[in-house]
Amino acid sequence: MQNAIEVKGLQKKYGAMTAVNNISFSVKQGELFAFLGENGAGKSTTINMLSTILPRTSGQAILMGHELGKEDDLIRKEIGIVFQNSVLDDKLTVKQNLMTRGAHHRT
Ligand SMILES: Nc1ncnc2c1ncn2[C@@H]1O[C@H](COP(=O)(O)OP(=O)(O)OP(=O)(O)O)[C@@H](O)[C@H]1O
Ligand SMILES: [Mg+2]
Repeated sequence: MQNAIEVKGLQKKYGAMTAVNNISFSVKQGELFAFLGENGAGKSTTINMLSTILPRTSGQAILMGHELGKEDDLIRKEIGIVFQNSVLDDKLTVKQNLMTRGAHHRT
């Protein structure tokens, strides 16, 4: 089975502070993957890098076959994100939430 996400030696530094220190992992297509860690461990920084929002300091990542940093537009077309604080509309059904949000994006 193809990996949906492959991360090798990903690192993020803010000046002298290392927020993400050389992490590697892979996630298979269709797999439920939980990325856990204590406060300040670097979870948000990692997700922000993988979702093309935040530039990485070093390392590599392939998302759905597309290389982070070189094919970011293609990566953005493949991914969806639900944020830590819910932005869903509780007056809509789950399906209606998905349909209205999906309508904002190209197919
Ligand atoms: N813009 C920034 N500038 C400097 N340091 C930062 C910045 N963003 C995050 N950090 C630091 O990087 C480290 C990792 O932060 P991050 O927010 O990724 O952790 P987290 O695992 O998501 O934590 P939490 O569980 O609190 O959400 C922390 O020490 C944080 O203070
Ligand atoms: Mg966080």
